[in-house]
Amino acid sequence: MTATPIDRRRDRFPTLGDGVYLLSHSLGPMPAGAEASMREYLEQWRSHTSEDAWAESWWDLSRQVGDRVAPILGAEPGSVIPLPNATLAMASIASCLDYRDRPRVVMTGLDFPSMGYLWRAQEPLGAEVVVVPSDDGVHLDMDHLLSAIDERTAIVAVSHVSYRSSFRVDAAALAARAREVGAISLLDAYQSAGVCPIRAAEWGVDAVIAGSIKWLCGGPAAGYLWVRPELARSLQPRLTGWIAHENPFEFAPGAIRYAGDSRRFAQGTPVIPALYSVIPGLDLINETGVGAIARESQVRTQRIVEHTLDRGWPLRSPTDADRRGGTVMLGFDDPGAVAARLREARVYVDWRPGVGIRLSPHFFNTDDEIDAALDAIGRTAHGV
Ligand SMILES: Cc1ncc(COP(=O)(O)O)c(C=O)c1O
Repeated sequence: MTATPIDRRRDRFPTLGDGVYLLSHSLGPMPAGAEASMREYLEQWRSHTSEDAWAESWWDLSRQVGDRVAPILGAEPGSVIPLPNATLAMASIASCLDYRDRPRVVMTGLDFPSMGYLWRAQEPLGAEVVVVPSDDGVHLDMDHLLSAIDERTAIVAVSHVSYRSSFRVDAAALAARAREVGAISLLDAYQSAGVCPIRAAEWGVDAVIAGSIKWLCGGPAAGYLWVRPELARSLQPRLTGWIAHENPFEFAPGAIRYAGDSRRFAQGTPVIPALYSVIPGLDLINETGVGAIARESQVRTQRIVEHTLDRGWPLRSPTDADRRGGTVMLGFDDPGAVAARLREARVYVDWRPGVGIRLSPHFFNTDDEIDAALDAIGRTAHGV
């Protein structure tokens, strides 16, 4: 495979001068533009007496950010709402469900723990959580997953790409099966948005959650929720508040009348500082294009996978690039010590218990950086 030439925009990420940055699955590097954007936020706040910050810019910001996220998810403008984090985006959907007729929530053993906590917390309301396990801790058997979705299923809510192994589910097959039995399909795209192509509307998925800080190179405290607009109109979140009202500035007492658009999934005051912090990263991703980023990602991750297989290192991710996200996991013993030694060599990776070290090349990383990281791992892993 040869790399497609793309503009890596390395000069737009000051942190890249510190060493080999392979942490995009955890916290993406700060774009230089974030500083100016945050200053703009402070300026709006400071000058609120002369120019109404809400009217000038803050009120419309959720919409502007949502519209930058929408193409990354394969969704239409106006259909994505920013929320404080991905877990709350999932909680908003959980709060729409009535578990009496359809008690089942289907998830997998590769999902982020927050999601299992949330779904199990719905059990007092009648939810029955069905966890489809991964036999090897890396892959999921799609047939097994699809057959777990039945007429008693309210929702199938799974990671598009797993934070544990980088396994990527076949989202279109999942959505088709869910639709066949009348269940809602939801993808947690936190580990795929910005590095893997997502075509939520085309795939027939009902909802997608994601967040700002990983592959989208934004600051913390922004999650994203997309719901297929036809479905959205029929959902009534119990997790709600005044911003979700069809006319918040009526300040009407009594029961909520939900907004007709994605704002119906909001709660209270939007996460304004976070929204300023995410715009430069989203612009960089959209300018570069997720298609080009995904091609670059596959070149670099494949380079890691092939080197790993050649050396006989313990690969803990799929070998098939089409079934993998942007991260490669290497299951060394004592991964914390390996990650610490790599940090000394200015190669930045992280690790998770039972997973190993995690390496995530983004579009700004070069083949030379990957080779330097692999050399350092070769020296380090054998010395630990
Ligand atoms: C796949 C996945 N989902 C959800 C989360 C948690 O997101 P948040 O903290 O925004 O709720 C993470 C964080 O690492 C993640 O990797």
